[in-house]
Amino acid sequence: MDIRETVLRQLKNHREGFSLEQPFYIDQDYFRLDMEMIWYRDWLFMGHDCEIPRVGNYFTVQIGDYPVVIVRGRDKVIRAFHNTCRHRGHRVCTAEKGASAKLVCPYHQWTYDLDGSLVFARQMGEDFDKAQFGMKQVHCESVAGYIFICLADEAPDFAPVRQTIEPYVAPHRLWESKVAFESTIVEKGNWKLVWENNRECYHCAGNHPELCRTYPEAPSATGVQGAAEDPFISEHWQRCEQAGLPSTFTMHQSGQFRVARMPLIEDAESYTMSGKRAVKRPLSDDVKISHIGTMLLFHYPTTWNHMLGDHAISFRVLPLSAEETQVTTKWLVHKDAVEGVDYDLHELTHVWQMTNDQDRSIVEENAFGIRSPAYEPGPYSPDHEGGVMQFVEWYTNFMTERLQGDRTKLSAVA
Ligand code: FES
Ligand SMILES: [Fe+2]
Repeated sequence: MDIRETVLRQLKNHREGFSLEQPFYIDQDYFRLDMEMIWYRDWLFMGHDCEIPRVGNYFTVQIGDYPVVIVRGRDKVIRAFHNTCRHRGHRVCTAEKGASAKLVCPYHQWTYDLDGSLVFARQMGEDFDKAQFGMKQVHCESVAGYIFICLADEAPDFAPVRQTIEPYVAPHRLWESKVAFESTIVEKGNWKLVWENNRECYHCAGNHPELCRTYPEAPSATGVQGAAEDPFISEHWQRCEQAGLPSTFTMHQSGQFRVARMPLIEDAESYTMSGKRAVKRPLSDDVKISHIGTMLLFHYPTTWNHMLGDHAISFRVLPLSAEETQVTTKWLVHKDAVEGVDYDLHELTHVWQMTNDQDRSIVEENAFGIRSPAYEPGPYSPDHEGGVMQFVEWYTNFMTERLQGDRTKLSAVA
């Protein structure tokens, strides 16, 4: 049977409230289908506006088979291009990041302007029409300091993402921040295991001693379930909203993205061992009150985020193979904050460096056990793992809809 039909049938038979069947976590063909249906078709968070503040600044990224370059144009607009030369396909930008007045392919020096148009190609003959060979554009949107791209020919509507997240994220003025530290790790586990682990704090008490000093493990406070009924949280929302910070739990109907501003434990203001701020210079001048907790944003399949009073942390997930996932973490502080004066890098990054490493080990051990022929899907905790159930539900619905949609299109063509 065709792999699509097999997956579709398995998704339909998925037992609600249980983890997925083994092949969803380890099989190459299932992985390729994830890439085609989700990663090559939907909006993906790539990085921040503040990483390419000046004209000609760029960074590159690899999504499955697609190398992409994201660049700030002469008109300050951020654009994304397929990073494959229109001459013979060499990667145009080979560095992870850089600054350049033009994008020059290292192979034969075809030269592209920052808007992707080909401006120079040596000795290509009289009839050569440069206009036909600009770099191919990738859909690109920037919202409140977050850059998203979409590799599909036709991108899904970005407006709902913008409308939902902009009011929550904008007060943090991340376009005026800088990356104080960045770490990239590879977790030997399927990208969905990385997400499943992220979407619950059932494992926190037993695994994250540093994080648990400031981050509550209660599902209501981690923005997973029952938040609105918790008086401590509704009071927090009220106080923050009065100060102009949108806060209440808002999930898009698709289940793909969500924002919510959640309190930390007691007096904690930041993810440090003491709970005190790690950065003296506040992240944003638009935030006028203290103890704002953490603004939690997730957008499947690429990103979860924490925005605090003194800094913000973004996470980017990129699948490398069926059993390997890259996770990039960035610590953002105000652009004028000075290392060694306003913050100590170790103090700023320690808690989440430890937490990431603990989560990596969890994901890898989870993947290890799932590889066993004896593995079978197990039940999620209704009290603590509502977030994981929500993720799995999003995944199964999303895949089912797209697989069915493709089937309908194919039969219409036939
Ligand atoms: S492949 Fe880029 S200039 Fe030849
Ligand atoms: Fe964790």
